[in-house]
Amino acid sequence: MRKIPVGLMGCGVVAGYGHLPALKASQELELVSVFDPDEKRLQSAQERFSVPKAFADTDEFFQSGIEAVVLASPAPCHYQNVMDSIRFGKHVLCEKPLAQSEDEAQAMVQEMQKAGLMLFTAYCYRFSSPCLKIKELLEQNAVGTVRSLRLVYIWNCHGRYETAPDGGRVEQARRVGRMLEGGPLVDCGVHQIDLSRWWLGSEVVAQHSFGAWVEDYEAPDHHYLHLEYANGVHAMVEMSFTYCHTAKEPIHFFTYDIIGTEGVIHYDGTSHTFELRNSSGTTQFPYAKVKGFDAMYSEFARALQTGSPGNLPTGQDGLIATQIARRAVEQAIQSRHVR
Ligand SMILES: NC(=O)c1ccc[n+]([C@@H]2O[C@H](COP(=O)([O-])OP(=O)(O)OC[C@H]3O[C@@H](n4cnc5c(N)ncnc54)[C@H](O)[C@@H]3O)[C@@H](O)[C@H]2O)c1
Repeated sequence: MRKIPVGLMGCGVVAGYGHLPALKASQELELVSVFDPDEKRLQSAQERFSVPKAFADTDEFFQSGIEAVVLASPAPCHYQNVMDSIRFGKHVLCEKPLAQSEDEAQAMVQEMQKAGLMLFTAYCYRFSSPCLKIKELLEQNAVGTVRSLRLVYIWNCHGRYETAPDGGRVEQARRVGRMLEGGPLVDCGVHQIDLSRWWLGSEVVAQHSFGAWVEDYEAPDHHYLHLEYANGVHAMVEMSFTYCHTAKEPIHFFTYDIIGTEGVIHYDGTSHTFELRNSSGTTQFPYAKVKGFDAMYSEFARALQTGSPGNLPTGQDGLIATQIARRAVEQAIQSRHVR
């Protein structure tokens, strides 16, 4: 079978542990070229993953014989990367958050559509075995009628400080970038917003959010978002980048609770618990992490071959989660000012 030639833009952290290994392992996709404005990162990614071509020039990258592009660049670059993809007629799988604002995300979706190209959002959580299993359990009514979801990820975003080349202690640059881009709800929270929509098969009709500021960025660094769905379910998303952010021995909590009329599904990334408790007893499922890059790329290949998204989150899914997260951050900031 012919492998579909693809390229990747942005050879940073998530490309290194998620996208590039999955692309290399893919039976359906062929990683032809990589792009990064940082020559050192570009060269290191090309060598580590034996990529045939590497470019620091955008036009040369897009003319390297690829049919689709993966965007693993920082969020502020996504809009321009998508506009360049349109210029060269390439389908796109874009990292989250889709864009820096609702307007940008809307324009990306519309322009890709107008150009007859497919835009997907890389919500890789959907494709992990626990998240797929939860979807299956909900379809089987394993907890009766779902009434409430709790999705919690409170961590330190790799810690507040890092060591500078001169040995001094400085603010950790990647974390600073994430806080300036909108904080934990916009960065990690969009995964949880997308999962809750996908699990429930329903749309958000009302939202309310509160922020807490352990630090003094504009966006809250600890965020509580409440969502009401059209089917009557309530979801609470709690995200933090300041939980243990200065601790010598940090811990974090990553939990999902799906609460229904007949039972509860509980997933816990700390104790490695994944179980269903209902009137039949307790069923334990194999624990796995919630990122499913390999399965996401199988679905990407299938979508490119068939022209149909299947389970792959679309640009519209990216836009909806971006809208909810951005509005939540604005609301939290406004209520802070009122207070
Ligand atoms: N799905 C996930 O689980 C997950 C995890 C981490 C990060 N992310 C997302 O992936 C994206 C990248 O995050 P990261 O942590 O790898 O960041 P990073 O800063 O480690 O890497 C980004 C790379 O993009 C390069 N770059 C800069 N400008 C560029 C441009 N104009 N075009 C292309 N590349 C450019 C940088 O040089 C860098 O090598 C972000 O949107 C982030 O939110 C997703």
